[in-house]
Amino acid sequence: MGRNWTSAEIRATFLDYFASNGHLKVPSSSLIPRNDPTVLLTTAGMQQMIPYFLGRETAPAVRLTSAQKCFRTTDIDKVGNERSLTFFEMLGNFSVGDYFKREAIGFAWELLTKVYGLPPERLYLTVHPDDDVAPLYWHEVAGYPDEAITRLEDNWWGPPGASGPCGPDSEIYYDRGPEHGCGRADCRPGCECERFLEIWNLVFMQFYQDAEGARTPLARQNIDTGLGLERLSMVLQGKESVFDTDLFRAIIDRFAELIGASYGRNSNVDTSLRVIADHGRALVFLAADGVLPSNEGRGYIFRRILRRAVRHGKLLGLDNPFLAEAADTVINLMAGHYTELAQRRDQIVEILSHEERKFGQTLSLGLQLLNEVLDDLQKRGEQVVPGEAAFKLYDTHGFPLELTQEVAAERGMLVDIIGFEGAMQRQQERSKQPEVFAREREEETWGQLAERVPPTEFTGYGGTMGASRIVAMIAENTLQDTISAPQIAAVALDQTPFYAESGGQIGDRGTLSSPTGIFEVLDTRRPVPNLIVHYGRMIEGHLRVGSEARAEVNVLRREDTIRNHSATHLLHRALKEVLGEQVQQKGSLVEPERLRFDFNHPRALTVVEVRRIERLVNEWIRNDYHVETAILPLQEALTTGAMHLFGEKYGDQVRVVTMGRSKELCGGTHCHATGQIGIYVTTQETSIAAGIRRIEALTGRAAEEHLIGRTQTLDALAAKLQTSPDALETRLEQVVQDLAAARRRLAQLDREAAREEANQLASAPKMVSGIPVVAAHVSASDDKTLREMGDQIRSRLGSGLVVLAATLENRVAFIVAVTPDLTKRGLNAGKIAAVVGERLGGKGGGRPDSAQGGGKDSEQLPQALQAVTQIVQDSLGLPDYTPES
Ligand code: SER
Repeated sequence: MGRNWTSAEIRATFLDYFASNGHLKVPSSSLIPRNDPTVLLTTAGMQQMIPYFLGRETAPAVRLTSAQKCFRTTDIDKVGNERSLTFFEMLGNFSVGDYFKREAIGFAWELLTKVYGLPPERLYLTVHPDDDVAPLYWHEVAGYPDEAITRLEDNWWGPPGASGPCGPDSEIYYDRGPEHGCGRADCRPGCECERFLEIWNLVFMQFYQDAEGARTPLARQNIDTGLGLERLSMVLQGKESVFDTDLFRAIIDRFAELIGASYGRNSNVDTSLRVIADHGRALVFLAADGVLPSNEGRGYIFRRILRRAVRHGKLLGLDNPFLAEAADTVINLMAGHYTELAQRRDQIVEILSHEERKFGQTLSLGLQLLNEVLDDLQKRGEQVVPGEAAFKLYDTHGFPLELTQEVAAERGMLVDIIGFEGAMQRQQERSKQPEVFAREREEETWGQLAERVPPTEFTGYGGTMGASRIVAMIAENTLQDTISAPQIAAVALDQTPFYAESGGQIGDRGTLSSPTGIFEVLDTRRPVPNLIVHYGRMIEGHLRVGSEARAEVNVLRREDTIRNHSATHLLHRALKEVLGEQVQQKGSLVEPERLRFDFNHPRALTVVEVRRIERLVNEWIRNDYHVETAILPLQEALTTGAMHLFGEKYGDQVRVVTMGRSKELCGGTHCHATGQIGIYVTTQETSIAAGIRRIEALTGRAAEEHLIGRTQTLDALAAKLQTSPDALETRLEQVVQDLAAARRRLAQLDREAAREEANQLASAPKMVSGIPVVAAHVSASDDKTLREMGDQIRSRLGSGLVVLAATLENRVAFIVAVTPDLTKRGLNAGKIAAVVGERLGGKGGGRPDSAQGGGKDSEQLPQALQAVTQIVQDSLGLPDYTPES
């Protein structure tokens, strides 16, 4: 291993080696996977190759190579030890239906031993137990005898999502030496101990696995390999841990310097330094690829590791925000290869710093509270942190459950997760909160107050933030001077950017904060015309009447809402243009998630009309009309032809909102220009009353998600049917036809089998009281076949009784048929059916010659059929029996 390899050289050498062997270098794909909605983050280099492996897209070349950014969540909680990472780089070579096992093995061996110069005797191999071919190539290429190769069931790879390509694999391990091992005689690759380090995985992609786990061979055999850059660097740089390589040491050393400590002296300090190094690197790459902190999905993973990093920063005594520093160090280290990091440096630093600041504010308090809870529990000898306590920390202090678990675990305690979830559920029910206010009394109080204070000034047309003064607060139906967490309350300010529910647009949400406390606004309304009131709850500290508060509307939610509001105006105009000027708005609902618009129209819209309306709205969005507002006297406004609601009371002065050809009287908040709406998609057109139709639609982010979701569904369906989305319709028609043909064939086979069974039964009737009787459980699959079998047997018998029963789904059906000569002798099919039906726990009946019935109790069937013999004997012995002359 003579030379000293830097990780950048290792990466470049890998890519160059494969390029010189005919591979096209492709850039890493984003950490947000493109093709698979079931996977949150990219976990392997092969993910961007999946469409090529499956033959759904044409690869730019049949041989490809990449260094891929990967993130795996499996080890998040373990990061801090010497091995585990969340973010890592995977070097890979791929063959799309080109070379297969032999060449893949040959390349890997040559690169490791000849180029990187690893001693062959340190390399160990594993294969899947069913793979008899790979060992032959390992023998040919590397001279390994069969018995030196370990067979491991685990050597099977993929797919990363619910379905996709997969196959057996062969892994290359590096022997770190017996001093790292467990010392057992049978210690081999795959052993739990630290001796053998897996460095490269060669996957022989041969199968497609569907969501149910069924595997079918792929049309072409592919190669997917993954070599961990961090691990290979550790080996080539002769280090004991990935954190000692040049990929991490600069970050670790920078932080060790900041806290005035050295790495490698104190294990607690080392753990925290490693957490910051790994999480810092991961956060930079996630932010660069557009992952933002949130409470779900990949956004939650981001938030979770950021908060974990911040907490370890605190453990190290880093009291000032430090993630910007970490980001800078990571970017300087990695931007040589990942140029997007430098390009987005400002954005990355801003995202990390903002979230760090937000979390930092509550972390210290949360930790203090948690430690108090833990002290208290420990004093009482308890081992389990109650779910309610963990939830309170999460809910009030934004303290992630995982962090509570981690801190508790450090003190040997567990958290009651079920209790946590229960508390979360109760909270969700409670947060449909505004109803807790006894509206009438509250309105009366606001009404009295409105006489004493000036009207609230609405500042929200121009912005979403502003300084205000608290005018009044109500909690528990009474005016209060102070409210404190966790009180539910209603707050009035002298001025506010919060829009109060009106004209179909729902009220804003957000926060009111002062140095003493934070109030979460869950809804905004006007209980009396002059006052805008913020409804919600204190989440921290307290607020006092007369003090200053910073009002901050939840911007994303507001922006989603205004997109829907402006789109409602365009939709209204488009409806008039497509359906006629007689269309009148009958109601609307404008929420962040969607919009709803009700209007008069005598019949359902045709698909063509819906599409024309949609096209028109989208055309106006693209035209990017400036949204203009003007305050005019009502009469003047009406003469401009502005649309308004009949029967609605307007003041003397009205606000007219104009965008392109749309002009409406409206007090709502809107986009600056129609382009901001982004895109409009109709999701439903329904009737809500006679002559009133309802359109539901999405815009902006929601529309985009909807369309992506549809595309993903199409992709998934196409994958299920092993075709491309474009060819899906043809393929589906084929499948439907094939299915119909198969059904016809099956029905034909069923009929043939039924005929055959009927023939056999007819040829061997049982003689009872001198007449032929067939009473049998047959395998007919429906009522019709059962009847046809009965008819067939009856006519074959000429004279006799037929009782046939079949098990159909979850019931037993039966028929009874009697030939005319025997009905005359008193044998009555209807009566027999009544008895059989009753025995089966059901019913039966019909005419003397033909009857039917059914029941649920299939266990009684043998006895019910046996009873037929008795009935025949009894019936033929009836006194009214008149022998035929
Ligand atoms: N897909 C395989 C892995 O992730 C090899 O690239 O290990």
